[in-house]
Amino acid sequence: MTPAQLEQFLDCVAHPALRRALEPLGEKIPQWFSEKKHGDFVRWRQALYDLATLLPAHPTGPADLNRPSIRVGAPITWEASRRQKVIEHLMKLHPWRKGPFDFFGIPIETEWRSDLKWARLAPVLENPSNRLVLDVGSGNGYFSWRMRGAGARAVLAIDPMLLYTMQFELMAAYIKDPAVIQLPITLEELPGMHGVFDTVLSLGVLYHRRSPFEHLARLRTLLRPGGQLLLETLVVEGDAQTVLLPEGRYAKMRNVWFIPSPQALKVWLTRAGFKHIQVASVHQTDSREQRTTEWMTFESLNDFLMPGNPNKTIEGYPAPRRALLTARAPF
Ligand SMILES: C[S@@+](CC[C@H](N)C(=O)[O-])C[C@H]1O[C@@H](n2cnc3c(N)ncnc32)[C@H](O)[C@@H]1O
Repeated sequence: MTPAQLEQFLDCVAHPALRRALEPLGEKIPQWFSEKKHGDFVRWRQALYDLATLLPAHPTGPADLNRPSIRVGAPITWEASRRQKVIEHLMKLHPWRKGPFDFFGIPIETEWRSDLKWARLAPVLENPSNRLVLDVGSGNGYFSWRMRGAGARAVLAIDPMLLYTMQFELMAAYIKDPAVIQLPITLEELPGMHGVFDTVLSLGVLYHRRSPFEHLARLRTLLRPGGQLLLETLVVEGDAQTVLLPEGRYAKMRNVWFIPSPQALKVWLTRAGFKHIQVASVHQTDSREQRTTEWMTFESLNDFLMPGNPNKTIEGYPAPRRALLTARAPF
């Protein structure tokens, strides 16, 4: 990501308030994409350079963002040793958590089958075409690309983990779409702007926030009146007053704060000023959707659950369930 690419994005979105907010960030881009942001940055950037020497300079077919496994570059008949080298360089960006991707015919089987989350989300998207989208906590951008595939006019993705933005950058280098960018920043670091986005995604972020209300309030101010929020987070069973606050780790994660029931989440959204709040789905995560793969070799769901009891986490809490809610910013 370069200041010129930010400029190109702003040109193609042509939204004055977005331009006012984001233009000053141009000068910060060199600091974000540097060793100052993460000690491994140079290694990751080298992997992208090395991959470029092994891949066709001009992709032979357009990307396909509408497939469960996002297609980046038309499949190539690889010579075995060259294919192995590509995989080795891709693995320098390990862990691959969100996907899957089909990278020039090489299947990147990520920890998460994010296509299954997309299948729950797509039916409740309001008029996906021509919308300006903000994807908060976008990971490597899987959902941002799918939103663009569904017809979004442009997508701004943000995620503070630089590795995930490097995975995004790799895909962006071959998808070549100026209307989708990702910045390696938190929601709190995003400059203030009111009523800009038609759609805001916050998928898998709320339980990581110590102050979930501030997160929800911020999302509301970013939406235009009548704009749609898609909120996905961990939930527990219970009534409108049920919220789990893990005493320590939850499913081995250190940074999990509040896990409300879907009904409690509706109250939170109401208190944050949202309207037309609907619970679109509630779903217990299974090992078809989240698992260790050769592209994500660390522990995964099966290691986070109590041996012999898939309905409890290893700490004895209810096993991960996720709810997807939709809500609208008031007019
Ligand atoms: C569980 S992942 C979810 C990724 C993707 N949205 C999905 O649903 O698969 C949570 C992501 O939120 C990001 N995140 C955490 N705190 C954030 C914040 N304050 N602002 C933006 N992103 C944040 C993390 O870096 C991480 O990539």
